[in-house]
Amino acid sequence: MNAAASKRPPELGSGQLELLMQKLHTHAGIRIDSTRSVIAGSIQSRMAYLGLSDVGSYLAIFDESIGARAEWLALIDLLTVKETRFFRQPEAYECLAQYVDELLCAGPTPSELSFWSAGCSHGQELYSMAMVVESAVSRHTPWLQWHGIGTDISFNAIRQAQQAIYPEEAMRFIPAEYCDSYMDDKLGGRRRVTDAIRARTHFFHSNLLHVDSAPFADFNIIFCQNTLIYFERERQRWIIDQLVKRLRVGGLLILGAGEDVSWLGQNVHRLEWPGVCAYKKTGG
Ligand SMILES: C[S@@+](CC[C@H](N)C(=O)[O-])C[C@H]1O[C@@H](n2cnc3c(N)ncnc32)[C@H](O)[C@@H]1O
Repeated sequence: MNAAASKRPPELGSGQLELLMQKLHTHAGIRIDSTRSVIAGSIQSRMAYLGLSDVGSYLAIFDESIGARAEWLALIDLLTVKETRFFRQPEAYECLAQYVDELLCAGPTPSELSFWSAGCSHGQELYSMAMVVESAVSRHTPWLQWHGIGTDISFNAIRQAQQAIYPEEAMRFIPAEYCDSYMDDKLGGRRRVTDAIRARTHFFHSNLLHVDSAPFADFNIIFCQNTLIYFERERQRWIIDQLVKRLRVGGLLILGAGEDVSWLGQNVHRLEWPGVCAYKKTGG
């Protein structure tokens, strides 16, 4: 790090801030509602890391080069909010548990079961889904193969999700029977998701803006909670349509509660589940 790098957040002129946010929107398709001081703090961290002391030199990085793309990713990593927890919005997981039970009991039993946490942050959402699925599968059809993937725009989030290690206090959100079965307690003060669950869950870097070219499809279940907030209304609808395309017929899509974007896509119907924004794919 260059000693010249200032410790004080840089003064951002409103023109500079606007230009940066505009470019961020064009580049990543997302809008950031953080306050000026949060944005300035994030820029300060990046400038310190790069050894820059002048905000103009930092903004000049954002041309069309490969280096600019890498810097966008690093800045987005700092600007996006990763807030998450296990079984956030428990009703969504009750809905999931019932859906999987019905799927496995109704017959014909599927030959495999797959699910996706889109905007997975540090992994708690995907692991919560996996615990519910594994529990249902082991009761009904232990031979059934399942696998889950998590995707996020943040490389740091993906790295932490892959480690699957969480502090003891995070366990209070996990129903006791799942915690006992699926969280190892060999680390002393921290717990790791069991090998059996980790072996079937994988995390990838991916921007939902480019979901139409994502090499994932044919899911039984997709969760996309508290992530669409980064996109404008029209883009949110487009992303939801793309997610539905990646569901099997009969598949379940769960968005964050309160993220109902009044969307009436074809081939889906809204499930009546209190407090949950859930859709089932009916055809297409
Ligand atoms: C508030 S967290 C939600 C985490 C989890 N889904 C939950 O509900 O607990 C939002 C996540 O969306 C990710 N994100 C933001 N914009 C994204 C994009 N364009 N593509 C993929 N992920 C994005 C952020 O990095 C962050 O991890």
